[in-house]
Amino acid sequence: MKNLICLFSILLSTGFLFTACEGPMGPAGTAGTNGTDANATCTQCHNSAGVDSVKTQFAYAKHAYGDANFEEVGSTGCSPCHESEAFKYVVANNVSTVFTIVPPATTYSNPYAASSSTSYGPMQCNMCHDHLHTSYTFADFMPLTTTAAVPMTFFGGAKSIDLTQDDSKSNLCAKCHQPRPLTNSNTDKNVLNYTGLVSNPTAVFYDASQANNLNVMKPSFRTSTHNGTTAAIFAGIGGVEFGTGYSNSQHTTVASCQGCHMANMSGKAGGHTFNAQGNFNGCNVAGCHLANPISSTTSSKYWLQTRNGVKAQLDQLAAKLQEGGIDILNRMGDPTGNLWLGLTTNNYDGNLNMYDPVNNPEGPTYNTTMFQNTSTSGFTAEQITFNSSLPKLTLTNAQMGAIINFQLCLRDFSLGIHNAPYTTTLLANSIAVLN
Ligand code: HEC
Ligand code: HEC
Ligand code: HEC
Ligand code: HEC
Ligand code: HEC
Repeated sequence: MKNLICLFSILLSTGFLFTACEGPMGPAGTAGTNGTDANATCTQCHNSAGVDSVKTQFAYAKHAYGDANFEEVGSTGCSPCHESEAFKYVVANNVSTVFTIVPPATTYSNPYAASSSTSYGPMQCNMCHDHLHTSYTFADFMPLTTTAAVPMTFFGGAKSIDLTQDDSKSNLCAKCHQPRPLTNSNTDKNVLNYTGLVSNPTAVFYDASQANNLNVMKPSFRTSTHNGTTAAIFAGIGGVEFGTGYSNSQHTTVASCQGCHMANMSGKAGGHTFNAQGNFNGCNVAGCHLANPISSTTSSKYWLQTRNGVKAQLDQLAAKLQEGGIDILNRMGDPTGNLWLGLTTNNYDGNLNMYDPVNNPEGPTYNTTMFQNTSTSGFTAEQITFNSSLPKLTLTNAQMGAIINFQLCLRDFSLGIHNAPYTTTLLANSIAVLN
């Protein structure tokens, strides 16, 4: 990015910019400082090294090519992290993440949602750069849409992520790349009391043979922290912290999301691709790994040892999360259906191994047997009969907490690179509590 800024300064100082505008036509003349030609400033951004070049990188970003924004359009609860207009809405209105009782309701609800009139919009430049086309100068790229501390929706706002290094830009990413809350589906619908899982590990959390109202929550195939758990692991806030010994990587306070994910381009990674895969340019900078560069994915102690170690811990924890010899965690060997394929030996995807012909039609392909689903809505008569032949699931508090920790660490995707000390302690203590 620094090169870009340099280029613009040179252009400015040579007066080149004040020649005729060759940029795209648009709201010309409708904005700008009195007495100057608004058109003249367009080329500060609209040139091949500026917007054009960044757009070329952005085409490789999943923000741009992913289709989740098409699927979640119109959903006020999903859109704050999936739709550009909804994201800007929750930022502009500082929408709270604190669960509240809104009369006449008598149970809690999660207020973190956009309005139905803003729950749309593909992820594009103005999602993160919400000042674009206001002063019509290069300065419109900054400030970013938000860099404020992020009250976590996972905790109903009780804890916040605040990554202040590098002008707090990581908080922009953390606002979306954070886990979603698990809620007491059967009782007051408040956020699950995660610390209660820690303080009373042997208590029964869920027992399929008990009446519904005795259970706090009814687990399903999709009971999870959702996909974007990174910022919680990165910040070292978000695990169900059994035992002691928690600490964070230097990354937590020194590195930034954009430092690694928007480093100088290497292949299809870096810059506005937001991709860090195989790109070590962000690691090998002054103050970080410059002295002992991380140069190869096959030889580095920082890379291979960390990742293999965390993979082994995930495998061990999954092996502990069994009941009567049956996996509690779902195996999914289809590469299009499992975003975390290969991160564990058995290809767990973080969902629960519960029969669900509607949401998990491939379950029977990859799991030898499954647990009985507590809800049979949408099932055929034959599927209902099959479901009732399956074993019922019971979970202790320790098992539920360990499932959450497994999901957080698997879906962080980096196998410890983001925050190795926190990840390894969370997994080790989860394994220990199940012993
Ligand atoms: C701060 C940098 C910046 C400046 C200054 C700027 N633009 Fe843009 N403009 C952008 C970006 C970024 C986009 C989005 C590119 C994309 O996603 O395709 C854009 C998009 C556009 C588009 C396409 C809109 C659309 O709906 O696809 C037009 C037309 C346009 N700009 C015209 C102008 C004109 C005319 C000026 C000067 C009056 C100007 N811009 C100044 C950054 C800038
Ligand atoms: C408005 C919410 C939002 C913001 C802000 C945001 N992201 Fe994302 N990001 C997403 C979503 C949603 C996806 C997945 C999109 C899809 O699959 O359609 C994603 C995908 C990604 C991916 C690709 C993940 C994969 O599975 O391949 C990376 C890497 C990433 N984001 C990094 C970042 C970084 C770094 C920042 C901050 C500079 C950031 N994101 C800001 C919501 C956001
Ligand atoms: C707190 C922010 C947040 C909320 C709210 C949220 N998501 Fe996401 N979602 C993300 C992020 C971030 C990713 C990408 C994570 C990654 O790839 O590392 C994602 C990924 C996904 C994906 C996978 C896309 C792919 O890459 O294939 C789907 C599907 C999805 N979300 C659906 C939903 C649905 C449905 C809802 C509402 C019920 C929802 N999300 C609410 C943040 C959120
Ligand atoms: C997911 C959020 C996100 C999206 C979407 C995004 N950017 Fe950025 N952009 C950033 C961040 C974060 C930085 C700061 C990077 C840094 O500090 O290294 C940045 C920096 C920039 C800069 C440098 C600005 C400066 O003052 O140094 C330009 C130019 C830019 N972006 C253009 C674009 C264009 C053009 C698009 C659309 C094609 C786009 N961005 C889409 C997050 C985003
Ligand atoms: C120290 C460097 C570093 C920092 C800092 C960092 N990441 Fe990562 N991130 C990585 C690496 C390395 C991977 C794994 C890439 C791979 O598998 O090759 C990764 C993976 C990811 C993924 C999954 C990408 C995918 O392809 O599915 C997301 C999303 C992500 N990071 C988001 C973030 C966010 C958000 C932040 C800031 C809170 C952040 N990262 C900070 C290095 C970093």
